[in-house]
Amino acid sequence: MNILLIHGPNLNMLGKRDPKLYGSMTQAELFEVIVDTFPKHEFTFYQSNYEGELIDVIQNSLSEPYDALVINPGALTHTSIALRDALELLTIPKVEVHLSDIDSREPFRKLDYIQDVVNARFMGKKENSYIEAIKYLTNLKQSIK
Ligand code: DQA
Repeated sequence: MNILLIHGPNLNMLGKRDPKLYGSMTQAELFEVIVDTFPKHEFTFYQSNYEGELIDVIQNSLSEPYDALVINPGALTHTSIALRDALELLTIPKVEVHLSDIDSREPFRKLDYIQDVVNARFMGKKENSYIEAIKYLTNLKQSIK
């Protein structure tokens, strides 16, 4: 599978953020774990701190041969209707991932604009949230075949 993985604001600072919530890996180490865990998949990683740039990447992905999207929008999860509308354009399977459990944190993190435009959400398991999400996409692809 050809998977696009998108990271939103502040996820480039993994390794420096609260390890109790986000684990201690850097973003580069996290991406390495993902590639090593799924050697048969091809990954394109993209991170931006800018909402509009993330929207451009999502729109541009329409003309690329991606089979699935994994997105951790960071705090834009709780604020961005524009990101949600961009995601709605994609017909490939989409999963939302969070390192922390956004439902058991501050009340403002319970608001999730993305959840009803993705196939599934994986959260609260640090890097394992990503592993579970990609296993889900792999199984989904196999069940469609
Ligand atoms: C996050 C959760 C968000 O609430 C937060 O703003 C982040 C990271 C997570 O992966 O747990 O930046 O998306």
